[in-house]
Amino acid sequence: MALDIYAPAAEDLAPGEARCPGPSPQDVLDQDGDTPPAALRAQAYEYLGNEDLSLERYTSQAFYDLEVERMWSKTWQWACREEHIPDAGDFYVYDVAHYSVLVVRGNDERIRAFINSCPHRGMQFADAGSKGSGKQFLRCPFHGMSWHLDGTLREIPCRWDFPHVSDDSFGLDEVPCDVWGGFVFINLDKNAPPLHDYLEVLPEHFAGWPLEERYVVMHTEKVLPGNWKMCMEGFLEAYHVLATHPEGLRSSGWANTQYDLFSPHVSRFLQNLSSGNPHFEREFTQAQLFEFLGHNPDDLPAGKTARQAHADILRDSFGAEIGVDLSHLSNSEMLDSIEYHVFPNACFFPGIVIPLIYRFRPLGVDKCIHDIMMLRPVPVEGERPPPVEKVALDVDEPYVSVPDFKENRLSYVLDQDTDNFKRQWAGMKASLKGSQTLGNYQEARIRHFHKTLDSYLA
Ligand code: FES
Ligand SMILES: [Fe+2]
Repeated sequence: MALDIYAPAAEDLAPGEARCPGPSPQDVLDQDGDTPPAALRAQAYEYLGNEDLSLERYTSQAFYDLEVERMWSKTWQWACREEHIPDAGDFYVYDVAHYSVLVVRGNDERIRAFINSCPHRGMQFADAGSKGSGKQFLRCPFHGMSWHLDGTLREIPCRWDFPHVSDDSFGLDEVPCDVWGGFVFINLDKNAPPLHDYLEVLPEHFAGWPLEERYVVMHTEKVLPGNWKMCMEGFLEAYHVLATHPEGLRSSGWANTQYDLFSPHVSRFLQNLSSGNPHFEREFTQAQLFEFLGHNPDDLPAGKTARQAHADILRDSFGAEIGVDLSHLSNSEMLDSIEYHVFPNACFFPGIVIPLIYRFRPLGVDKCIHDIMMLRPVPVEGERPPPVEKVALDVDEPYVSVPDFKENRLSYVLDQDTDNFKRQWAGMKASLKGSQTLGNYQEARIRHFHKTLDSYLA
C-alpha cells in the first residue's frame, strides 16, 4: 500500500510537527545496520512561523542595497581553495557585489586578503575573478606603485612627490582571512568574529569529513537568471524532486528528507538516496531496486538490502577507481545527499556520491553566479592532483556541456534545477500576490535563512 504524500496533517499536531508518512532518514540509518557518525544522528528542527515571505525581498533594489551594505560586508565567505594558491606570490580575486578582495600567499606561506583597490587612485590590482602566480610583489598596473606580499609598501615611483605619505600608513588594506576545510574564507569586516566561531557546528560535524584532504575535479561558474537568494533556495529543499527530478523518485523517499536548523549560520538536509520510495502505488522489491541502481538483480546478496549491497559495491569499486580506502564510511556517507548550508551563500556536501560545493553570488538584483565544485578524496598514493580549471557558463549553457561533468548524472539534475529559474524569476516579478508561502518543514531552511538575513539587515 503506497504511503500518501497528499494526506493532510493530523489535526492534533502543532504547526511544524507533521512529517511525511514513511521511514524517516533516521529509520533508514537504523536499517543500514552500520555506525554513521554522530553528526548524521543529530536532529534540530524548530517551528519558525508560517507567515508569507514578501517577494520584494528578492525583487527590490532597496533590499539588495541593504544586503550589500549590511550583510555581504559582514559575513565570512569562501574565496577559493588553498590549492588554488599553493606557492608564495600566488593570488586569487574574489568578488561579491561591488566588493573585490585579493587573496595572496606570502613568502611566509601565510594567506592574506587585501582589498583589491590601489591606495593611490583606486586601480584594481587584478581583474575580477582572475588569478595569478609567482609574483615577487604586488605592483599596481596604473602608476607602478608596489607592495610586498605581506601588504607593506615596497616602492613609490617618484617618491619625492609624496612627502606627505609615510611608508607605515600606506600598506594595503587587509581584511580578515582564515582557512577551514581547505577553503580560504574572507570577511570584509575588520571586527568580524573568528571564522571558527562563525561556522558554529560545522567544524565539529565535519571532523570526520576533512574537506582539506579532497581536491577539485570539476569547477563551473554559471550565470543564473534570477536573484541570488531565489536561485540558492532552489537547492535548500528536496520538495521539488517530485516535479523537477521525477527520474529520482524511484530510489528516494524524497518527501521524507530530514531538515535541520542547527544555529543561525548553519542548516542541513539529509536525503536518503538508494533507499527506495515508499510513496509509489506499486511496491518495488529489493531486487528491483538493486536493478534500478545499476546491478544485476540476481546478484543481490541474501540478507542485504539493495542500499547496503549498492554501498558495498561502491566502497570497493569506486574506492579502487579513485585510489582511496572508503571502507570506514557508513552507507549514508557513501550514498546520501547531505547538504550543509553556511550563511550566507555556501553549501558543503560531505558525501561521496554527491560531493558538491556550491556558492551563490549576486550580479545585481536580477542575476547571480552559481559556482559549483566537485571534490574527491586525495588518493593515498602519489601526488595531490592539482585543481581543474574553472569553466564559465552563460545563462543558456547547460552543465551537460562541460567536458569534466557531462558523464555525471548530477549535471542533468543541475540543469533541471537551473532550468526552473528563468520562469520562477519572471513569475516572482509578475506576482500580484507579492509573497511566497512556505511549507512548515520541507522549506524551513528558507525561512531560517531569511531570519538570519534579517538579523544582519536590522
Ligand atoms: S592607481 Fe595604483 S599606482 Fe596609481
Ligand atoms: Fe534539485
